[in-house]
Amino acid sequence: MNVRTISGSPAQADAAAVVLGIYQDQPLSGFAAALDQATGGVVSRLLERTEITGKHCELLPLHAPQGVKAPLVLLVGLGKREELDAGSAFRAAGAASLRLADKNRGQVAFFLDESWSTEWTESAVAGAVVGCQGQDLYKKEKKFNPHQEILWAGGDEQAVASGLILGESMNLTRRLVNEPPSRIFPASFAQEATQMARECGLEVEIWDEKRLEQERCGSLLAVAQGSVQPPRLVILRHAGGKPDEAPLALVGKGVTFDSGGLSLKPNEGMVTMKCDMAGGATVFGAMHAISCLKIPRNVIGLIGLVENMPSGSSFKLGDVLTARNGKTIEVLNTDAEGRLVLADVLDVAVERGAAQIVDLATLTGACVVALGNDVAGVMTNNQSWCDSVTAAARRCGELAWQLPMFPEYGEQIRGSVADIKNVGDGRWGGAITAAKFLEEFVAGKPWVHLDIAGPAFAEKPKPYHDAGATGAFVRTLVEAARSVERESQK
Ligand code: BES
Ligand code: MN
Ligand code: ZN
Repeated sequence: MNVRTISGSPAQADAAAVVLGIYQDQPLSGFAAALDQATGGVVSRLLERTEITGKHCELLPLHAPQGVKAPLVLLVGLGKREELDAGSAFRAAGAASLRLADKNRGQVAFFLDESWSTEWTESAVAGAVVGCQGQDLYKKEKKFNPHQEILWAGGDEQAVASGLILGESMNLTRRLVNEPPSRIFPASFAQEATQMARECGLEVEIWDEKRLEQERCGSLLAVAQGSVQPPRLVILRHAGGKPDEAPLALVGKGVTFDSGGLSLKPNEGMVTMKCDMAGGATVFGAMHAISCLKIPRNVIGLIGLVENMPSGSSFKLGDVLTARNGKTIEVLNTDAEGRLVLADVLDVAVERGAAQIVDLATLTGACVVALGNDVAGVMTNNQSWCDSVTAAARRCGELAWQLPMFPEYGEQIRGSVADIKNVGDGRWGGAITAAKFLEEFVAGKPWVHLDIAGPAFAEKPKPYHDAGATGAFVRTLVEAARSVERESQK
């Protein structure tokens, strides 16, 4: 997609459609006042008659209004001015963009607010880029028609350019997740990563099955062994900082399909399990953005890729695995596979000298029970690193909430046959016992675990994005990388 900054009045914009931002409980000003004036007061009359109120994400299309060059004006509610943040800016722009994606429209001009900060503009542009792209990858008659060009009024060029990069990176993540598991499996995901890395100047290393064996990744390999698809580890490296600067490591769960293995899931639990590589796809999208934005910081992205299948060669209940860091694991449920994959990948991140680690995983249904569909669970061994990651999420308007990591939770995964077991004693606190398991593999490094089982994949569409993959937490990772950069400059 193409995004370009423009200036001038919304009434004069040369585009197939103009999107105009309207605040709730606030007199018209700026762009909205200008268009109101050009139309002889159409907008104020609609407000008076409460045909539009400015409520957040409210939409009202005006066809061929007098005094406006564009044949269509879409009014979009921005909500109350004092309640606006990067998240609501993203969603309002996304809602307008989604509505206009119903057909091919060429150029769409956004006139939301001329006085927004760089952060809000960046976020809103990303929202517009994400909103017009859907999950209809294999439909002949597309429901979503991405705009050919977005024209953006009232933002500085850099904010608009980086908003485009963030939106496109989220769409990369979304496409990978939305693709069927017959197309995206460990080897094909690794190929996509190789190609992306080549295109945007990242270094890339792929470990195949043989290398994973040489590297003693016994935990990851056990999950892979039931599938005809061989596993991969993708290591992406962005060298934006000084050569001797310890990198930030982003680690993603890339289970390209989670059937549960021998602990087979029922149909309703399995239908969306192509999304179980969303953590890996989020790291993929974030590394793309970090590279395109030239963040002055060393960042490595590690994605553990396997398919979890039942077969005659599957790993079994009662099996004892030796993870890369030497710890032994008793398998009591083959559906708790994500933590087994991450165990070895986290150890590689530690070995690569990570200064801080963030991992992302669609790890547990328990996290969705605890926090619902839209909020990621945050767990950590280091409060100050956690504060900086959650602050980054807040700045982007992405929802994340911390869960406790009391040592008592760790008692549940102590093993009697091996060092640890791959599940806790029961269902209760399942998101946290999973995190306690991961903590065994980070060697005390500052580490944050984001359980994105809820927010990564939407069962139903939202006003601002289609159902399916959301691209959630790509922006948070980029923002976290930026803030580490700021901290290291202090
Ligand atoms: N991939 C699932 C978790 C999941 C559930 C992601 C729903 C997205 C939506 C994970 O591998 C899993 O199966 N977890 C089990 C763990 C249990 C066996 C301890 C779960 O949550 O039931
Ligand atoms: Mn599972
Ligand atoms: Zn899984």
